[in-house]
Amino acid sequence: MPPTVTENQTDDVITDEPTIEYRSKTSSGHRLSPPTGASAKGGCEEFIGILQEFSKLFGAFNIADFIPHLGRIDPQGIQARLVKARQSLDKFIDNVIDDHMEKKKRKEEEKAAKNGEDDQEDTDMVDDLLAFYSEEAGLSKESDDLQNSIKLNKDNIKAIIMDVMFGGTEAVASAIEWVMAELMRSPEDLKHVQKELKDVVGLDRRVEEDDFDKLTFLRCTIKETLRLHPPIPLLLHETAEDSEISGYFIPKKTRVMINVWAIGRDPAAWDDPDTFRPSRFLREKAPDFKGSNFEFIPFGSGRRSCPGMQLGLYAVDYAVANLLHCFTWELPDGMKPADMDTNDVFGLTAPRATRLVAVPSPRLLRAVY
Ligand code: HEM
Repeated sequence: MPPTVTENQTDDVITDEPTIEYRSKTSSGHRLSPPTGASAKGGCEEFIGILQEFSKLFGAFNIADFIPHLGRIDPQGIQARLVKARQSLDKFIDNVIDDHMEKKKRKEEEKAAKNGEDDQEDTDMVDDLLAFYSEEAGLSKESDDLQNSIKLNKDNIKAIIMDVMFGGTEAVASAIEWVMAELMRSPEDLKHVQKELKDVVGLDRRVEEDDFDKLTFLRCTIKETLRLHPPIPLLLHETAEDSEISGYFIPKKTRVMINVWAIGRDPAAWDDPDTFRPSRFLREKAPDFKGSNFEFIPFGSGRRSCPGMQLGLYAVDYAVANLLHCFTWELPDGMKPADMDTNDVFGLTAPRATRLVAVPSPRLLRAVY
């Protein structure tokens, strides 16, 4: 019997509030953990609040984008809110770095007191970055050793944390939620993915990184989800030089918006474009998302495309594969797949307008949990 959903039984329910609580082991063997360094609830809540404010502001209609001289007046107060959000983020990341630096200093003192003996403790991404910390950033040419040749100052570390915070959280969470939602709406495809997981992995263990390449249908499912629901639906670029395209003169500094969402549903490029059909990616020469098939660019294309694509895909693969392998999923309260809301909300990313609620029950042998 699957657990039923009630207001105070949230442990049995998957919702996908943005979370930075994922920890995983990358192929290089490094652990990735929250850049807040604080799995403490307060830190997470503050971080989520800041991200949500940025998300709202990035998706807001800003009249100054269309009538630039209104930018100075800021009639909607968007600029003022952006400045405030940026200050909160700066302060938040400064605190994270300071906490980690303090911890590092304490550890070094403890190590010295124990005559160089080190306690093997879990480190996170900020600790790993601090291993390269030096007030004078730059690349030393004398040394070939990575640890000694790369130096990062506090601003460099802060910039990297911001990239990971923005890129590595909402886009990934949105993709995971949409894969789960589309599969709940398409029970045949859900069955297909789960059968593949059972055949490749077996019911006596969890999914591991080495399994990913054999999970062809799961990969197609993730691609099909990114086609229909690109987490970043609108890309904003600016021309660097005057140029001419198809006889049109495009002056330098023209803003160019690329509608990835519409491109992924273009009937000229896709058969039956609004239908979720992962098997379309099984055919030979199906487009890939590396940026050279312009009908499918969930990670952008060219020099400004997503630098975190591999990490993002790894996080989505890992989360979705384990959610689907470890649990059988049902919609709550006898809800029918066709009744599910499939609208998205535009912001920094495009998550589902209505949070996904689904009910899991264990699928693997008991000893695995
Ligand atoms: C499913 C996950 C992800 C998707 C779909 C995604 C998608 C994108 C897209 C569409 C862009 C804009 C490209 C353009 O403007 O042409 C972008 C930029 C970026 N992404 Fe990702 N991303 C994901 C995960 C990540 C992760 C995990 C990180 C970092 C850890 C990351 C870091 C960045 C950064 C720093 C940029 C800005 C690059 C620049 O401006 O040059 N992304 N991403």
